[in-house]
Amino acid sequence: MSQYRDYTVSLHYDQRLYRQDIAGSRAHVRMLARQGIIPEGDASEILTGLDAVEREIESGQFPWDPELEDLHMNIETRLAQLIGPVAGRLHTGRSRNDQIAVDLRIYTRETTGETLQALRRVQKALVELAGRYHDAIIPGYTHLQRAQPVMFAHHMLAYFEMFQRDHGRFRDCFQRVDVLPLGSGALAGVPYPTDREFLAGELGFSRVSANSMDAVSDRDFLLEFQAAAATCMMHLSRLSEEIVLWSSREFGFITLAEEFTTGSSIMPQKRNPDFAEIARGKTGRVYGNLFGLFTVMKGLPLTYNRDLQEDKEGFFDTVDTLLATLNVFQGMLPGLTLNEERVADVSGESYMLATDLADYLVGKGVPFREAHGVMRRLCRYCEDNRLELQSLPLAKYHEFSNRFDADVYGITAVSSVAARNNPGGTAPNRVAEELERARAVLESSLGVPQELKGVAGGS
Ligand code: ARG
Repeated sequence: MSQYRDYTVSLHYDQRLYRQDIAGSRAHVRMLARQGIIPEGDASEILTGLDAVEREIESGQFPWDPELEDLHMNIETRLAQLIGPVAGRLHTGRSRNDQIAVDLRIYTRETTGETLQALRRVQKALVELAGRYHDAIIPGYTHLQRAQPVMFAHHMLAYFEMFQRDHGRFRDCFQRVDVLPLGSGALAGVPYPTDREFLAGELGFSRVSANSMDAVSDRDFLLEFQAAAATCMMHLSRLSEEIVLWSSREFGFITLAEEFTTGSSIMPQKRNPDFAEIARGKTGRVYGNLFGLFTVMKGLPLTYNRDLQEDKEGFFDTVDTLLATLNVFQGMLPGLTLNEERVADVSGESYMLATDLADYLVGKGVPFREAHGVMRRLCRYCEDNRLELQSLPLAKYHEFSNRFDADVYGITAVSSVAARNNPGGTAPNRVAEELERARAVLESSLGVPQELKGVAGGS
């Protein structure tokens, strides 16, 4: 091999597609025989040979040879060594261009199924956490400033919603993965009486591609998967950020299970939230992989160009990163303890009730803008004099508005959340409904949807 040849080798990463590649070959050879394109006897020899190849790969006995460049050439060459020249009939009416396209689509379908399942496990962990602390109130933030009290469960279920949309995005991109490219040949179609519908059925695709040139050069489905993955990682990263903040001494809201923290090598008092930090960090490479492929694609004329070989490493890295991160979260969330005393303490802080006091004045007939002004002045007064709102005597309240009555002291974090009792609000009864709805979603779709099940022995 020339000293430069290894620049072109993809074997070390496309090896990963061997199950999908062999599944594609099996379907192809069955189709060729059914259509009388190759003799039945040859087809069954090829099928037996493919079984042997698969066994060799699985047992680590396969003689991988980088000189043969890629997975496809390795398998075909080995097949010929095992069964002789009849192996040469396998590639009838097929090109590596439609072959890699079908391999990647089968792989993406299977991976989408795994991703949906992993997402459900994270959602389940969130729902369990919300249920475990269903009556806890925490401060809700805007601008990272304490804003209004909210139910802890409401906060957790906000993430449930994000992952619910992610689930929808992966389901949705599957609609466009679910198209069979095999049968497109190198670019123009093939001059044999093939049966692409049969191939689609064998390989679990619900339709066949309409344009051979598009089919061999399209990688939109990888971009869509990676865009969904990037969005999902962004959600995981936001949750990570909250875990990092909340587990700090400054917040002190949660404690992570020991397994999900790491000690500092020099500061013995520290338990660092490394898993959450790494998840936040890994989000960067998932964004990068998406942009890597966008950039590979942007200048490519139709149809297949060898640049397309660069579609895989970033994509596989994204798949691995996303699945590993979802897996960490489904393990980390159940071990998270809410420091209930601390959050009760903080959410009882009177400033967070300022909006409720303004709403209280509205209830007494004051226009909202005016009530807001009263409360702004009152809060400023308390801050300047280091006082809590609840500690002021009624006479002091009256200096700001004569509409205040003794019932103003009845306003607490508990009454504040209870008041936000419209759909989507944080009132405990609304959150309880939300939790029930989330549980119902999980019950109805925990498994992998039938159409996403593997044909290549995958999940
Ligand atoms: N290894 C190639 C890839 O990953 C397979 C297709 C090669 N086709 C070709 N005409 N060289 O894209």
